Amino acid sequence: MPYPYQIKTLEQYHEEYKKSIENPEAFWAEIANQFVWQKKWDKVLSYNFTEPKIEWFAGAQLNITENCIDRHLATHGEEPAIIWEPNNPEERTRIITYNRLHKRVCQVAQMLTNLGVKKGDRVCIYMGMVPELAYAVLGCARIGAIHSVIFGGFSAQSIADRLEDAQATFIITCDGAERGSKNIPLKSVIDDALIGNKLVKKVIVYTRTRTPVAMLKGRDLWWEDEMDYAEHQIEKNGVVSFPAEPMNAEDPLFILYTSGSTGKPKGVVHSIAGYMVWANYTFINVFQYQPGQVHFCTADIGWITGHSYIIYGPLSAGGTSLMYEGIPTWPDAGRFWEIVDKHKVNILYTAPTAIRSLMGFGLDYVKNKDLSSLKILGSVGEPINEEAWHWFSQHIGKGNCPIVDTWWQTETGGIMISNLAGVTPQKPAHATLPLPGVLPVLVDENGNILEGNGVSGNLCIKQAWPGVIRTTYGDHERCRTNYFAAYPNLYFTGDGCLRDAEGNYRITGRVDDVLNVSGHRIGTAEVENAINMHSGVVESAVVGYPHDIKGQGIYAYVIFEGSHHEENLTKQDILQTVSRVIGAIAKPDKIQFVSGLPKTRSGKIMRRILRKIAEGETSNIGDISTLLDPAVVEDIIKGAQ
Ligand code: WTA
Repeated sequence: MPYPYQIKTLEQYHEEYKKSIENPEAFWAEIANQFVWQKKWDKVLSYNFTEPKIEWFAGAQLNITENCIDRHLATHGEEPAIIWEPNNPEERTRIITYNRLHKRVCQVAQMLTNLGVKKGDRVCIYMGMVPELAYAVLGCARIGAIHSVIFGGFSAQSIADRLEDAQATFIITCDGAERGSKNIPLKSVIDDALIGNKLVKKVIVYTRTRTPVAMLKGRDLWWEDEMDYAEHQIEKNGVVSFPAEPMNAEDPLFILYTSGSTGKPKGVVHSIAGYMVWANYTFINVFQYQPGQVHFCTADIGWITGHSYIIYGPLSAGGTSLMYEGIPTWPDAGRFWEIVDKHKVNILYTAPTAIRSLMGFGLDYVKNKDLSSLKILGSVGEPINEEAWHWFSQHIGKGNCPIVDTWWQTETGGIMISNLAGVTPQKPAHATLPLPGVLPVLVDENGNILEGNGVSGNLCIKQAWPGVIRTTYGDHERCRTNYFAAYPNLYFTGDGCLRDAEGNYRITGRVDDVLNVSGHRIGTAEVENAINMHSGVVESAVVGYPHDIKGQGIYAYVIFEGSHHEENLTKQDILQTVSRVIGAIAKPDKIQFVSGLPKTRSGKIMRRILRKIAEGETSNIGDISTLLDPAVVEDIIKGAQ
């Protein structure tokens, strides 16, 4: 039995669940014993949710790369760790065995050491979806540097903010990235981000697209040169080695920026041991992974889903992770299905927005593909509507594949609420039951815990699980106020949730000012700040509205006082501004120019009203008597799109 802690029956799920809640220390010690430790822990768990201070496996030492790579070499060093499918289907697939991955990660570790990167340093990684991105991430972990991956769609300004917040001193990037028919000039974006930056010492550039780049003397280096040099250092008499740095269980593994309801994105910090155990445990149980299976997670490694279910989950399980460079619709809308067919994918984990978009292209793209290798399907990132669920089940799973609807967040490190594929019951549009270790509670606005079934409220988690956020980088107080202050002794998720008559959980969406656009988290405040940067904009208010493909679209109400010759041109300019400040993913779908915003006498914008109007409501706007100027609402409704 390769994974002694893989749950195989519903009864076993209930038993394990009970154990995990009643005696978490004994439960997790048994699982943690299956990993490689340089030194075992003194205490499995101690925590309080008030500061918060959370420690898993305190006193232990380990290196996550020994668990993700070295421990698999003796038994299956020649098995594929990563199968890489390029953006361009004509280009060669790359298969990276565990032996090869080991060598490359040792090389990166040596290269970073040569360049002066030390344990605890923050290394920013801004690359396309190439295997070198995985090597970079794991190379950092090998030497104890903290990686912070930034999604390739973020703008120079966003990167600059993140570099500053993380006080990053090294960057690994590519000349460019291929995504569909586009070539994104990553290095040139980095150059812009670095204007005025005094902290970054070295920028390592991997050649992917052969886009011309400007290399700054003394700062910029080619990955290929540095890796070649490192290769000679790590290989002696045909044996490859680079010692894995002994790390404390609670040392940070990575920082990943994510949007909240206020201010700039915050750097979510995960620490090594707990995150490792959680990514591994959830991967093995939710997807019921079997050795040799090909797992295809379609996320980008710039998001938490890619961290946990392309890199750390599958590799810690000794599995095969398929990494795809491109997008679902290029060269055509059959690309995912072609990849499944070509690489005999067994598990496909994707987002509802992708499913809805591919549904729209019709079945012609699915028809001639052999999808018989598929065993399990997964959904993540936003609520999946029943129509998409059934289409996915019927046309992709051919009625034979369980679908796991996995609810979780950047802050939770791994999947929290989900059915276990084929083991616990599934229910369309329901994440269903909590994983062992997860104790969800629903609370009303006053913080009262709602007992029993058939209730809905704000979703909180009552007990520490191994993957819980430890801090927000450089600002622990922000972590406390964001997640642990709303309700005493509870972690607050920001999501609304329903518990049905059978005790299944159904996530209803964010209850704060965070939007979920195509599965990407975007704060309304961030978009407003970006819009307000455009000269002529006096004020703006941004809300979400239901969107057929994206789940949510962005609706911006803008007070514009500058003169504009043509409204459409001004709108284009505003979109440009948002692209520049945040990135194209945050561009509003609709912009409406308004003369005023509905505000209370104390100056607070009534978003409830704006949301209703964005949803197309014209009459049932609710009580507007507390508004400073109720007439404004009439005007906004008239101009609504
Ligand atoms: C939403 C992505 C419904 C939710 C892993 C959460 C979901 C936010 C689901 C986190 C799901 C994620 N059903 N909603 N299965 N999965 N969400 O941090 O609102 O990018 O709070 O993490 O996505 O987004 P994040």
